[in-house]
Amino acid sequence: MPKITFIQHDGEEIAHEAENGLSVMNIAVDNLVSGIDADCGGECNCATCHVYVDEKWIEAVGQPHDAEEAIMSLNPDRKPTSRLCCQIKIKDELDGLVVHLPEFQF
Ligand code: FES
Repeated sequence: MPKITFIQHDGEEIAHEAENGLSVMNIAVDNLVSGIDADCGGECNCATCHVYVDEKWIEAVGQPHDAEEAIMSLNPDRKPTSRLCCQIKIKDELDGLVVHLPEFQF
């Protein structure tokens, strides 16, 4: 199973194995990773699952779709590496993925 590493804003690292087909948000919520509230349950409506994808994983993860981009654009702390992690589906190619959790979400 792919392994996903979450790095908290204070540098703490938490890694979890993930089932293909779930989202990165599902893995965070199922494992009580703090900083991911996911209030809308993955419907791309709340933006409480904002992550910064590690630079070396940007290409593999891909770019946000239009609805995701629209909601993230409201956040002044959005970065070029920002994604809503409910929109990142786990697949074998993402084994080793690293995402950083923004401080504003704590
Ligand atoms: S969980 Fe609400 S936008 Fe991702």
